[in-house]
Amino acid sequence: MDIMRNAGNRCQKALSGYVHTPPTNLCRMKKVCNVYSGSALLQDEGLVARIVEAVVGAVEVPVTLKIRTGWNRNNRNGVRIARIAEDAGIAALAVHGRTRADLYQGEAEYETIAAIRQAIRIPLLANGDIDSPQKAAAVLKATGADAVMIGRAAQGRPWIFREIAHYLASGEILAAPSALAVRDILVGHLEDLYSFHGELAGVRIARKHLGWYARDRAENAAFRSVVNGTDCAQTQLRLTRDYFDRLADSQPLAA
Ligand SMILES: Cc1cc2nc3c(=O)[nH]c(=O)nc-3n(C[C@H](O)[C@H](O)[C@H](O)COP(=O)(O)O)c2cc1C
Repeated sequence: MDIMRNAGNRCQKALSGYVHTPPTNLCRMKKVCNVYSGSALLQDEGLVARIVEAVVGAVEVPVTLKIRTGWNRNNRNGVRIARIAEDAGIAALAVHGRTRADLYQGEAEYETIAAIRQAIRIPLLANGDIDSPQKAAAVLKATGADAVMIGRAAQGRPWIFREIAHYLASGEILAAPSALAVRDILVGHLEDLYSFHGELAGVRIARKHLGWYARDRAENAAFRSVVNGTDCAQTQLRLTRDYFDRLADSQPLAA
């Protein structure tokens, strides 16, 4: 428990505002589950309570928690874990609509999230397979959640958040960003990666993002093979600009 308290304290210092970190993040990564933390903890509700209480008690900022719906489909204890979290003082709860055993297979189910909504009063974020404004609206309606959390659909498409916000506010679909708008967002993202990670690590980390941004776009494969060949930030930026400039000249981009 001391480790959890210390981890909470370190997070509080690192992130001003709130704590949402691996210590209170009951996820399914093998490296986490194999040491009996993350979503493996969902099997031991008493331990979840002690850990969450320890972290909440160790920091002065709000602590949020993310869980799956249970350990496996026969043990969907998400409602009980959610009550434990609320009783321990967790400020908001995010729920991925799959069990730990589901990994990413099948489709997320939202019934358990809806049941959790009925069981607790703290803000609830629904998560899993939300990839469009319409899906976000449908999940909010089906679950009664206060918000949605987006993972994979934001990879290479960070404007999905404003698309969803616009749709929820107006019922209308925002036009897809132009190639030049995508270029500018991506260039800003690359520059942030270089400045945060340093040039070499930044260029390498950027490759997967470049692939996501160019996914489903013309000449994606050719672009990736050229842009992945460099370890130089300036070259990566130039190739990226050239690619999107060419796309802008030739055709509008579909979302
Ligand atoms: C690259 C990547 C990293 C992730 N890292 C974490 C993590 O550290 N902790 C966690 O609880 N979930 C993590 N997830 C899971 C997501 O938060 C989310 O629950 C899951 O992807 C389902 O949402 P989605 O369908 O919107 O992607 C990660 C997902 C991806 C794609």
